[in-house]
Amino acid sequence: MAKGKSNQSINNSHRVTTSGDIEVSTYLEIAKEIAGVQPTPSKEAIPEAKRESIVVIDFGSQYSMLIARRVREFQVYCELVPHDTPWEKIAPLNPKGFILSGGPGSVYEPDAPLAPAYIYESHLPILGICYGMQVLTKQLGGRVALGAKHEYGHAILHLGEADSPLLADLPPSTPVWMSHGDKIEEMPPGFTTLAYTENSPTAIMGNDRGIFGLQFHPEVAHTPEGKTILKNFVYRICGCQGNWTIGNFIDESISRIREQVGKGKVISALSGGVDSSVVSTLIHRAIDDQLTCIFVNHGLLRREEAERTLNVFRLNLGMNIIYADASERFLNRLKGITDPEMKRKIIGGEFIAVFEEEANRIGKIDFLAQGTLYPDVIESAASGSKASVKIKTHHNVGGLPAKMTLQLLEPLRYLFKDEVRQVGLALGLLEEMVWRQPFPGPGLAIRIIGEVTQEKIEILRGADWIVMNEIKKAKLYRQLWQSFAVLTDVKSVGVMGDFRTYGYLVAIRAVTSEDAMTADWARLPYDLLARISNRIVNEVPGVNRVVYDITSKPPSTIEWE
Ligand code: XMP
Repeated sequence: MAKGKSNQSINNSHRVTTSGDIEVSTYLEIAKEIAGVQPTPSKEAIPEAKRESIVVIDFGSQYSMLIARRVREFQVYCELVPHDTPWEKIAPLNPKGFILSGGPGSVYEPDAPLAPAYIYESHLPILGICYGMQVLTKQLGGRVALGAKHEYGHAILHLGEADSPLLADLPPSTPVWMSHGDKIEEMPPGFTTLAYTENSPTAIMGNDRGIFGLQFHPEVAHTPEGKTILKNFVYRICGCQGNWTIGNFIDESISRIREQVGKGKVISALSGGVDSSVVSTLIHRAIDDQLTCIFVNHGLLRREEAERTLNVFRLNLGMNIIYADASERFLNRLKGITDPEMKRKIIGGEFIAVFEEEANRIGKIDFLAQGTLYPDVIESAASGSKASVKIKTHHNVGGLPAKMTLQLLEPLRYLFKDEVRQVGLALGLLEEMVWRQPFPGPGLAIRIIGEVTQEKIEILRGADWIVMNEIKKAKLYRQLWQSFAVLTDVKSVGVMGDFRTYGYLVAIRAVTSEDAMTADWARLPYDLLARISNRIVNEVPGVNRVVYDITSKPPSTIEWE
């Protein structure tokens, strides 16, 4: 929410992730909790000043991040910053224009968040969206009032008489997505109406100094021509060239990493997940053997996972990898443990212990590489005052083992997930690796209900292998956020041939999701479910019943523990 946001700087944030693909770094957070230390803030440079950018001033709309995503789709670098970010943080980005996001507030409330003065003093183009338009109106001398009715959902936008480069290539009428209660009662001096809807006489306003307001949301898919409007703003109004490409990003990152690291030594925790794989490959490309990856196998990985990861990174990419097979050690520590949070704590603590032991053998190390992504950075900048109830301990990442006074190296901290995937592909990683579904740090331990034993791990691996293969064969793997098997602690009676069986109940979980905060159960075809079920009861000893989980999140969570 815009109001009450922390003043924490955008470059000095601690990572709080909203996505599921958290992997290894989860454990580092647990270390932070245990030690009560803060990590050394990342010295990762903000993108070079010569790069053009668009800066989105965030007033707390749920769509703010989407605006930044859209702008980057036009190959223009874009950052989202809290509305109270000082100019010193913005200047190095070399902004070519500002976008003021929507937000839940109302500009006539006493503490309404407004745009900082530099937005106007810079004389750069400005695009206000919804609440952002109302902010512009208020600050530039117009009047905003409560609308007669709240306008939510589809509306038809009609272009007015006046022409503007912002409207280039738009049809005379087009659907737009509205979500507002307030309306522009009087435009600021110098502005004219460029388009209207039935309920909003001023749905687009603009002046001849490159300042525009939109009453609707151009960034959402429900506004089909929204991309055209944003693109017009970015190219025709702000004059951007479009030089933000993955190739440029990789080249710049490599020189930045070299500059930052010098002759220093870097370690990374490699898990085989997308983020840790891409971050390690990128750093390896920059500094070669100055990077050592530590791959801790906690014995709770999927079938063939450890071997595959080692093959790719050690044999194919020739990276320096320390492989620590600590499976037995983890299993011993998990003996008799049934509580999910306890499992997480034990696995997290043990992971740190193994990681540190291995790192100590290397000698002096200067940097710890982390796969922090931009949504985590944004979220942490905005989360200062958010009070939330802890459902599971996994949503925080980014601490450092207490005794390691390492600097963080986070070359992906300005990228969205799909950009990370593109970087991975451009670096030559296999599609299979780059498109891997998220896998939780504690691995199969939180998909085995109750105590974790070697026997149960094997059963679950067998079932999980079948689920993954069948989903891939059905070409559904990429469409699903996650798909996996869960081994419950329920046993039930069955019949096989002429014999009674008493075996485990396996549940299949498959969900679609944007960010793991919410998820919907996937409507998998019955035939596919039948194949999975048949194969599991026939091929995995000890299982005689399979069920499909048809709950969404909320009220459930994606993982069962
Ligand atoms: P839930 O179960 O909370 O999961 O809906 C949301 C996403 O987070 C992943 N997850 C974890 N990731 N450590 C992780 O690194 C964990 O302890 C953990 N628990 C859940 C989960 O797979 C899903 O993508």
